Amino acid sequence: MTVFEATCTAPVNIAVVKYWGKRDTSLILPTNSSLSVTLSQDQLHSKTTIRASADFTSDRLWLNGIEESIEKNKRLVACLRETRALRAQIEEKDASLPKLASLKIHICSENNFPTAAGLASSASGYACLVYTLSQLFQLPLDASDLSIVARQGSGSACRSLFGGFVAWEMGEKADGSDSKAVQIAPETHWPDLQAMICVVSDEKKGTSSTEGMQLTVKTSALLQHRIKEVVPKRMEEMIAAIRNKDFPKFAELTMQDSNQFHAVCLDTYPPIFYMNDISRAIIRIITEYNKDGVKAAYTFDAGPNAVIYAPEKNMAEIYAVLSHFFPGATFDDSLGLLSKTSTLPPLPQN
Ligand code: ADP
Ligand code: DP6
Ligand code: CO
Repeated sequence: MTVFEATCTAPVNIAVVKYWGKRDTSLILPTNSSLSVTLSQDQLHSKTTIRASADFTSDRLWLNGIEESIEKNKRLVACLRETRALRAQIEEKDASLPKLASLKIHICSENNFPTAAGLASSASGYACLVYTLSQLFQLPLDASDLSIVARQGSGSACRSLFGGFVAWEMGEKADGSDSKAVQIAPETHWPDLQAMICVVSDEKKGTSSTEGMQLTVKTSALLQHRIKEVVPKRMEEMIAAIRNKDFPKFAELTMQDSNQFHAVCLDTYPPIFYMNDISRAIIRIITEYNKDGVKAAYTFDAGPNAVIYAPEKNMAEIYAVLSHFFPGATFDDSLGLLSKTSTLPPLPQN
């Protein structure tokens, strides 16, 4: 029996203007626009293989080698439903195409980094799922069209369909057809900007992004201020800083946005803590390092792990500074220049 198969990889993206809050939880429509940098595929990525066959009797999913239920996973079901419907449309128009829309599929996906630890596994995971489905089904869609489908898996995933600097435009329509990712600048625009990933903890977070942000929407007054008064202006300033390759401005906005996101988590009731003592020590170290001019920017997603953006020439020094404060931190250079992953041990007591 014929087996149809596609394998793809997708990178993570780390937001510099964060998405936190949904106005529609089933379509995944955000309360604010956001902007991120897609990291190199050599760094953190998901790899997904999907097979379709008339021999398969049910849809099945293996994540990092362990089988997971698909039925309970509404978002994955939505991505499957959307891509199958698009495949059915092209099969209707062209009778010579193999009938894939009606076949059951097996999905096998792996992340080369900690899953659900605040390093954007849902972003690379769902971007990869939707992209691999589009390859398997040969869908005639561009990256923005695919971002609308990936968004329904995980909001942040829509931005991983593009490389470089990517905005997720929140959109206005109730059906979500204008809530999509657009590229602000390609990866070649600012090759000097690099990312260092500091793995503080690889444990699964206590509060998932999905649960955390809905509690924030329900209880935080600060979130209302953020989405109305802060983010619209910050998006414009961030886009300008990226276009001008203005690192000090990019860094200031990135750090301010990370700080406000975590402040909004603290303003949630009951409060959500994603950063820990090591995360806060990294903030202090980078702040001190930037005393005489901004040379590095930290940002933290919904977890304790730091991503540090900096011009390439500063990276060796930043690594030296961090290793001074975290003796024993290991450094993984095998992933290439763009990818510097250090595992930080606990801070020595005093
Ligand atoms: P993170 O900070 O890692 O994005 P989230 O709480 O947002 O954490 O999402 C984690 C969830 O994303 C996982 O529990 C899983 O359901 C989903 N996920 C992660 N990686 C993949 C993948 N490669 N394929 C499909 N789903 C994935
Ligand atoms: C802090 O995209 O993981 O990383 O849409 O519910 O799957 P769901 O949430 P998710 O949230 C990401 C939150 C963030 C900020 C960001 O990536 O913009
Ligand atoms: Co996520």
